[in-house]
Amino acid sequence: MSGRFITLEGIDGAGKSSHVEWLVEFLRGRGHQVVSTREPGGTPLGEKLREWLLAEPMHLETETLLMFAARREHLAQVILPALARGEWVVCDRFTDATHAYQGGGRGLDRHKLAQLEQWVHGDCQPDLTLLFDVPCAVARSRIALANRHLDRFEQEQAQFHERVRLAYLDRAAAHAQRFRVIDGEQPLEVIRLQLEQLLLAAGA
Ligand code: TMP
Repeated sequence: MSGRFITLEGIDGAGKSSHVEWLVEFLRGRGHQVVSTREPGGTPLGEKLREWLLAEPMHLETETLLMFAARREHLAQVILPALARGEWVVCDRFTDATHAYQGGGRGLDRHKLAQLEQWVHGDCQPDLTLLFDVPCAVARSRIALANRHLDRFEQEQAQFHERVRLAYLDRAAAHAQRFRVIDGEQPLEVIRLQLEQLLLAAGA
């Protein structure tokens, strides 16, 4: 039985993280070995880099390189070994987030991004990317309701998040074979049903 690489994406407040646990349990219930992980992070080094990335102001290219450095480690230590063992990998964000945030949100040159992507994981792409999409105003109000300290990305202006959202939707259109866009404003049960169908179609 061969595993699959599944990524979850969306703007901050789109609600993706609340589905990760359910998704993992669903896959385990279908008899799969599942590794649940996230970016930036997923390894001890990656989690340290995450702390810096979410808190320290830095040059855009430094930010991008650190995202990819954490990713290289994550691929080497966690993602590729799990896939080689035939396990499923469920990853909360991956390179599409770099395209959306550093590319769309901050305006990093897309050729530089494409080069880094090719260098770090040219031969490994997600099998399925679930993009949770909600209007930015909805995402903002969800974040405000959570009433907690906001990280460096969450503190960005509304226009930043609009650009991130559009970049995600552009990417979904450009890679339609692996992306599935989920309307994150639907009731929870409707989203779960949709996820179930998508996972079954992906071989779960
Ligand atoms: P999280 O809130 O989903 O855990 O993600 C942390 C933040 O990191 C989120 O605001 C998006 C941002 N991020 C990027 O800017 N580029 C990336 O490549 C990744 C993986 C995350």
